[in-house]
Amino acid sequence: MQAKIEELLKKKEEAKLGGGKERIKNQHDKGKLTARERIELLVDEGSFEEVDMFVKHRSTDFGLEKQKYLGDGVVTGTAKIDGRPVALYSQDFTVFGGSLSESHAEKIIKVLKLAMKTGIPVIGLNDSGGARIQEGVVSLGGYADIFLLNTLASGVVPQVSVVMGPCAGGAVYSPAITDFIFMIKNTSYMFVTGPNVVKTVTHEDVSFENLGGAETHASKSGVAHFVNENEVEAIASVRKLMSYLPLNFMDRSPKVEFDMSSITPQEELDSIIPDSPNKPYDMKEIINLIVDDNDFFEVHSHYAENIIVGFGRIGGRSIGIVANQPEVLAGVLDINASVKGARFVRFCDAFNIPLLVLVDVPGFLPGTEQEWNGIIRHGAKLLYAFCEATVPKITVITRKAYGGAYDVMNSKHIRGDFNFAWPSAEIAVMGPKGAVEIIFKKDIEKSENREAEIENKLNGYIEKFANPYIAAERGYIDDVILPRDTKIKLINSFSLLEKKVDTNPRKKHGNIPL
Ligand code: HXC
Repeated sequence: MQAKIEELLKKKEEAKLGGGKERIKNQHDKGKLTARERIELLVDEGSFEEVDMFVKHRSTDFGLEKQKYLGDGVVTGTAKIDGRPVALYSQDFTVFGGSLSESHAEKIIKVLKLAMKTGIPVIGLNDSGGARIQEGVVSLGGYADIFLLNTLASGVVPQVSVVMGPCAGGAVYSPAITDFIFMIKNTSYMFVTGPNVVKTVTHEDVSFENLGGAETHASKSGVAHFVNENEVEAIASVRKLMSYLPLNFMDRSPKVEFDMSSITPQEELDSIIPDSPNKPYDMKEIINLIVDDNDFFEVHSHYAENIIVGFGRIGGRSIGIVANQPEVLAGVLDINASVKGARFVRFCDAFNIPLLVLVDVPGFLPGTEQEWNGIIRHGAKLLYAFCEATVPKITVITRKAYGGAYDVMNSKHIRGDFNFAWPSAEIAVMGPKGAVEIIFKKDIEKSENREAEIENKLNGYIEKFANPYIAAERGYIDDVILPRDTKIKLINSFSLLEKKVDTNPRKKHGNIPL
């Protein structure tokens, strides 16, 4: 028996070395950790339970039968993060560049299936040269099998991808289907075709980093939700993200202890909105004051900054926040903001995370660029997402709520559970100037003093519409609240809504405007 035990231990040691010491050194020299080092940092100490450590590839072409490594380039298994279970896989670049063989794909699929069966989130650490070239179409088949499983798991368990090296060609579509993508500056990149192909086809000269690096995807394409300086920071950020999420669509996010006696009126909130309606202010100031411990975990922070999305806790409960940002483009809704908001709302709804919507929106962005690129189609995504969401949904209008954007931003009419407004709220079909110029066009044209007439009509319009009371008269606003009382109001309302039940009509699936 002793000999057999020793043989097992020897094999385990061999598997842990992946592609060998030399390649591990190369990995470190590039500023990257190994697959196993990453797992160690990610999960609770000693909690990793590996599966399929002894799997090898089955290829016999191009001399591969002489190059076999235990594990075949991916480390898979289950572990715990803050005591809660996760399934994970971590591609090992030291074995054939982390490339995906048939067996490598089977290992990933096994953990995806296990995660779905047991209802636990999946975290994929990606670092791969793509399809195992020597295996040809079998490798492509492996990718397709993973895409299918990612799609089937979507909405069943949260799926998180951390891109920590190359991720190119069709391989990008696995992370793309998952819920969140993390990238690391300077060491990770994602693209469908690399700089060489780009050069041949479009004659553009572009570097790896500029074409598909972390900052590009965080700010230009919106593919990456999080960009981190290094792997250690990214992994800490993944752990933090997981703390807001439930394990699966039937579960609830973990609650954190909260001391209700710590709540006092927050007078700072009373003076954030400037006197002039055209002056910007930072909505994040309001968010940070409202969330517990001033701790707001922003998602997609570099993309479409005119809308803010992210997680926080209110009274110890996880919530998703969607907020217009008056400081960027006056908080207008454009194509990118609509898509960013819609995706986040759908994630929260899929995983029972209540939504808080903070509104200061002058409308949708006008212009040919927006119209020709489909602001109608894309704006409809955000509207659709809010309409179909059945989680607790609370809106607070801090200032402007104009036009279609008023309806879209979780208005009462589309099943907002509690819709509050601050006294500074202005709820109307459009901003005063535009409105006056349309409805009093003839009076203004006839008037001898055009400017005085506009001013006069403006004052009348502002007095009538630039307030929350007409909407409140109708019950579209449940209450006009003092900014300083917002937090306590939200704690009480979310608490009341904790057991909320709402459903949508039976169907195969809806047809969100894509
Ligand atoms: C087999 C691969 C491999 C691959 C890398 N390796 N990619 N082996 N299949 N796809 C091996 C190398 O032979 C090398 O082996 C080791 O991994 C490290 O690779 P290096 O080139 O030395 O590393 P580096 O200089 O860091 O370059 C990394 C790289 C490059 C940029 C990823 O290796 C590369 O361009 N690889 C090919 C990428 C590619 O074209 N893949 C197919 C894309 S199409 P040794 O033994 O020397 O350590 C695709 C389709 C998916 O993926 C479709 C899904 C639908």
